[in-house]
Amino acid sequence: MESRRGHELHLAGITQRFGDYVAVRDIDLKIGAGELVALLGPSGCGKSTLLRIISGFMPQTEGKVFFDGEAVDHLPPNKRGVGIVFQNYALFPHMTIRQNIAYGLEVQRVPAARLKTRVDEMLDLVHMGEFAERYPRQLSGGQQQRIALARCLAVDPKILLLDEPFGALDKNLRLDMQIEVKRLQREYGITTVLVTHDQEEALSMADRVAVMSRGRIEQIASPTDIYDRPETLFVNQFVGSTNVLPGIAGEMAGAGQQVTLACGERIALAEGSRLATGAQVQVSIRPEHLTLQTAPLDNAITGVIKAVMPLGPQVLYDIAVGDGTDIKVSVPRKRGDEFLLSGTRIFAAPVPPAGYRAFPV
Ligand SMILES: Nc1ncnc2c1ncn2[C@@H]1O[C@H](COP(=O)(O)OP(=O)(O)O)[C@@H](O)[C@H]1O
Ligand SMILES: [Mg+2]
Repeated sequence: MESRRGHELHLAGITQRFGDYVAVRDIDLKIGAGELVALLGPSGCGKSTLLRIISGFMPQTEGKVFFDGEAVDHLPPNKRGVGIVFQNYALFPHMTIRQNIAYGLEVQRVPAARLKTRVDEMLDLVHMGEFAERYPRQLSGGQQQRIALARCLAVDPKILLLDEPFGALDKNLRLDMQIEVKRLQREYGITTVLVTHDQEEALSMADRVAVMSRGRIEQIASPTDIYDRPETLFVNQFVGSTNVLPGIAGEMAGAGQQVTLACGERIALAEGSRLATGAQVQVSIRPEHLTLQTAPLDNAITGVIKAVMPLGPQVLYDIAVGDGTDIKVSVPRKRGDEFLLSGTRIFAAPVPPAGYRAFPV
């Protein structure tokens, strides 16, 4: 029961159909022992369906699920050794916190002395020892979620499955819980799949993020790579925000390829682009990856400031460029800085190592 070494999870060719509708399509995913992978994507993209398949609550149409290299497809949920926490995971209202945490251990017929030690250990783990004799209704939402997590960890599951577990909590509490769960997951070394539609939650908690769209994984990579090196326009737009400018790919110019934008400007892409000359592309650059000045700047887009929005630590400039489209530029706000004014003609260019990225249309 004390195994602290995580278990491996492998999904091989998982597809889920509901009638003609394909909710999850040919998913291959390997999650390492002790790793936390977030499934991130908009509502309806198939995240919860995939989690239900891993747990055994929903038999998949096609494909196989392996824990530590062994197929578990024939096993019901209670034989798979998974722990699940949902957004509204109800604790048993008529049982105390201690009884709630003990429940799974009692089902497993764990001897009384060991059961008590284990429950105390779990109460300590989530810093809830002083609440042991209370009832769920006497706790806040965040505290209840911690108990739900403790109850789930008490039976030492091989895999922890979290489906939007902080969705019902308000913003500050959510942040505390994210830090807390990350700490527990590390301390425990438990292999974890976290389902969320919240990009900040995925980026801040996960070792790797799998961005999903329409039942597929668009990209799986470290949070840094997902943010800085998105492989598709969908990933680029879903994670963070970005300016998108249509254009036509041109010749290679040094390290980067040239693109003529619809607004008339010609820019050079970041290194590594190899798009067919003449191809229609969408050029993407994040607001915080651009800098602004009134004097000419290399590789710049020119425009006129339409609006200035001071947003606390940043100032967001809304800028009209040639063809009637707008771009946004976010500039860190230093003490004593003066804002540029609406109507000012400016040059906006990428701050290295960031650069323009392009995706085929
Ligand atoms: N039991 C079911 N029967 C029919 N359609 C379902 C069922 N479960 C999920 N779906 C559909 O599959 C798609 C993916 O659902 P889900 O996995 O819950 O998405 P997510 O968790 O990413 O929001 C949705 O279009 C949903 O309506
Ligand atoms: Mg869901």
